[in-house]
Amino acid sequence: MTRVAIIGAGPSGMAALRAFESARKKGAEIPELVCYERQNDWGGIWNYTWRTGTDQYGEPVHGSMYRYLWSNGPKECLEFADYSFEEHFGRPIPSYPPRAVLHDYIAGRVSKSGVRPYIKFDHSVRWVEYNDETGKFTVRVRDLPNNQDSTEEFDYVINAGGHFSTPNVPQYPGFEKFPGRVLHSHDFRDAVEFAGKDVIVVGASYSAEDIGIQCHKYGAKTVTYCYRNTPMGFNWPESVDERPILTHVEGNIVHFSDGSSKHADAIILCTGYLHNYPYLGEDLRLKSENRLWPLGLYKGIFWQNNTKFMYIGAQDQFYTFNMFDAQAWYARDVVLGRIELPDAATREEDYKVWRAKEEACENAFDLIDFQTAYMRDMLDSTDYPELKVEKVAELFKTWEHHKEEGILTYRDRSYVSVVTGNQAPEHHTTWMLALDDSKEAFLANEAQV
Ligand SMILES: Cc1cc2nc3c(=O)[nH]c(=O)nc-3n(C[C@H](O)[C@H](O)[C@H](O)COP(=O)(O)OP(=O)(O)OC[C@H]3O[C@@H](n4cnc5c(N)ncnc54)[C@H](O)[C@@H]3O)c2cc1C
Ligand SMILES: NC(=O)c1ccc[n+]([C@@H]2O[C@H](COP(=O)([O-])OP(=O)(O)OC[C@H]3O[C@@H](n4cnc5c(N)ncnc54)[C@H](OP(=O)(O)O)[C@@H]3O)[C@@H](O)[C@H]2O)c1
Repeated sequence: MTRVAIIGAGPSGMAALRAFESARKKGAEIPELVCYERQNDWGGIWNYTWRTGTDQYGEPVHGSMYRYLWSNGPKECLEFADYSFEEHFGRPIPSYPPRAVLHDYIAGRVSKSGVRPYIKFDHSVRWVEYNDETGKFTVRVRDLPNNQDSTEEFDYVINAGGHFSTPNVPQYPGFEKFPGRVLHSHDFRDAVEFAGKDVIVVGASYSAEDIGIQCHKYGAKTVTYCYRNTPMGFNWPESVDERPILTHVEGNIVHFSDGSSKHADAIILCTGYLHNYPYLGEDLRLKSENRLWPLGLYKGIFWQNNTKFMYIGAQDQFYTFNMFDAQAWYARDVVLGRIELPDAATREEDYKVWRAKEEACENAFDLIDFQTAYMRDMLDSTDYPELKVEKVAELFKTWEHHKEEGILTYRDRSYVSVVTGNQAPEHHTTWMLALDDSKEAFLANEAQV
């Protein structure tokens, strides 16, 4: 029987499991699936952990999420076409849920589809090798609690290991003598730690924006962002400021490239993540910066050197959960023989055309349209339920406007679901005043429409 290994049971791995299961429920014969997950539960980085550094087995901690993390985009942009928020929660809920609510949603769908038995939790994939002679992959895995290694053979491997887990940590002169904490966003857990403090946030993307604003929300004295290329340029509150990149640090004083300086109690490096797959040799390993179109993947999925090796979720993401679905359905249909892949030259030409289109994007709206076009291409090729991505693109653009109008208030907005057509209710508490991020607090008090 054909065997498929799936590395990781985060949203991308869960999408792969769900895709095969959905074909099975419609009567298709599906391959044997084994999903290896090194954490003890599914959900990927949506599992909150207090741990940083290494876990109880000495594995690098995967989690990059922190307390009080709320969705940074409207939930209507990531909604599954085959499982609406309304179906899961039994009623419409506000547009910007906290982490625990989104975790409940993604876990709810796969719980109902019965795919949990396919997953081996607490199993870390250590090495994947392809044998040209047998045409099979050998996957070496460690059973972490029992400290035992084993190998198994597979016909296909889907890498869904995530790429927002290995921090990119730059060094600036003076860090070694800085008397406060220097940490990467990967190790940030609780903004309350920075109440009353002067915080420097390095970076100008989503982590910087959100962690700086979190610190402000939970009482930081000041937040000073610094950017390498382009400022975020939002209309910041009075105690928040944005400057060009730091040059060096002297004691508690951080110096910036415009000659200004600022007292700092803590420096948080929101400098992004590395594609890092230590379990893959060079023949299978994607090497890329974080971008919407990494090279070497036909349809953003199939590894050019060996199309039986697939990546799901390897792109930078406007679309998340529903994009992983679209990719998983496509990958599944190739494995099931429903879609035939073209020859190597055609594949290469195709992914280079996508790259050229990505490079021609000039602003955030172009990038949204780019990933929307990719979604359309994926969706039109499989039986994934119709998702009106052109409407989702409009939501993304409205979201960008809402952020410009108020970086502290955009999460109070509500949007119309493209899956159900219903407008989300407003949340019972504005985001700046909502200090409790639990599912219970979020879902308490019937929301006002
Ligand atoms: C701080 C932060 C906040 C975010 N917030 C949002 C948000 O608000 N909305 C949104 O839509 N998206 C958000 N994202 C984007 C996020 O990338 C996706 O939502 C999603 O989690 C990606 O899913 P994934 O399965 O590809 O990767 P992950 O969620 O990272 O899951 C990968 C899984 O693979 C497992 N794994 C890795 N290596 C191995 C191995 N060797 N062996 C076995 N298992 C392995 C990991 O343990 C993990 O469970 C956020 C990302 C970050 C970093
Ligand atoms: N739910 C939420 O609220 C939330 C919160 C955090 C993160 N996220 C998600 O997490 C993912 C990762 O986001 P991210 O912001 O961590 O990574 P990212 O989008 O890849 O951005 C990395 C940032 O680091 C900067 N940078 C890199 N190297 C640097 C250096 N040497 N010196 C100074 N700056 C440097 C980059 O600068 P340049 O711009 O100059 O290249 C960029 O601004 C995204 O999908 C995001 O949506 C979501």
